[in-house]
Amino acid sequence: MEEELIGIKNSAISLILESSNLDTLEEIKLQFLGRSGKLTQAIKDIVKIPMEKRPEVGMLANEVKNTIEETIDQKKNELTSQNSKERIEKIDTTAPGIKPEIGHLHPITQVLMDVIDVFKELGYQAADGPEIETDYYNFEVLNIPKDHPARDTQQTLYLDTRKSKVTPGEVILRTQTSAMQGRVMEKMKPPVRVIVPGKNFRYEQVDASHGFEFWQVEGFLLDKNVKLTDLFGTIDYVLRKLMGEKIKIKFATTNFPFVEPGVDTYIECTVCRGQGCSFCKMSGWSEIMPAGMIHPNVLKAVGYNPKEIQGFAFAIGLSRLVTLRYQMDDLRLLTNPDLRIIEQF
Ligand code: DAH
Repeated sequence: MEEELIGIKNSAISLILESSNLDTLEEIKLQFLGRSGKLTQAIKDIVKIPMEKRPEVGMLANEVKNTIEETIDQKKNELTSQNSKERIEKIDTTAPGIKPEIGHLHPITQVLMDVIDVFKELGYQAADGPEIETDYYNFEVLNIPKDHPARDTQQTLYLDTRKSKVTPGEVILRTQTSAMQGRVMEKMKPPVRVIVPGKNFRYEQVDASHGFEFWQVEGFLLDKNVKLTDLFGTIDYVLRKLMGEKIKIKFATTNFPFVEPGVDTYIECTVCRGQGCSFCKMSGWSEIMPAGMIHPNVLKAVGYNPKEIQGFAFAIGLSRLVTLRYQMDDLRLLTNPDLRIIEQF
């Protein structure tokens, strides 16, 4: 009997030590310690041996059982820790990761940054102003009094101020970034070189080249002895920097109440290369930069003496500049939410 028990112990231990996974270990446990397992059977047989020998054999049988159980437990621990080690090793830390999606600057912002860089070279500062503006800065200070017909061209959106103390019609969404001329000039003494990038709002009929909200970069310079040729030179320099040396530029006269004389700047339409298309209304030219010499009435309104100080002002149609630069035939593409458009820039 003792020999049988020792035999069971030895074969169980060698099987346990050889086992390479948790499933075979479980089978071995059943094979020896299960209800009809080898050791269980042997223990049952103890009753068959003479009484005086039973305690001794019983003790041995217990010892064998404990040893088998302990060895199984040890092996189990070994196998589980190996398993997790293997799992860790399976993570290939050298494999390339999943790239997170990174956005990029909107084409309007990209072109705006170029515009700011060009003006920075010329000594201009950039200023920011409110989109909700007063009638005074948007019109009055710019030599556009209440009864001026030029107001009709600026399809103005008025804020509903009925529940406030503000006189109706005095607070609007700015129609032009020129509204910042008065705000800046009141605070600064010449020489002044400022650009104001920003959004404007008008209840316009929306089409390929007009939006109800659109970007402009207003700019103005004030100093002694400023001449119209300084304005022409500035526009020519800036547009060639932004659109390429070879572009064709054309100046025409125009009328804005806050400048005298007023100048309209056109560049050859890049969409049709001057052939005429719906974007340029079949003219071959696109209006890009209205400008002029600042009207003496504006200078007086902000406290400057027009005999001492002169200046010029201009506005770049930024939304339009973007479409012309990328030969897009419709301004509305810039605000279209379809990412396939914006991802191309
Ligand atoms: N503010 C005018 C508009 O949006 C454009 C403009 C014309 C601005 C002439 C200027 C300028 O600074 O000199 O209709």
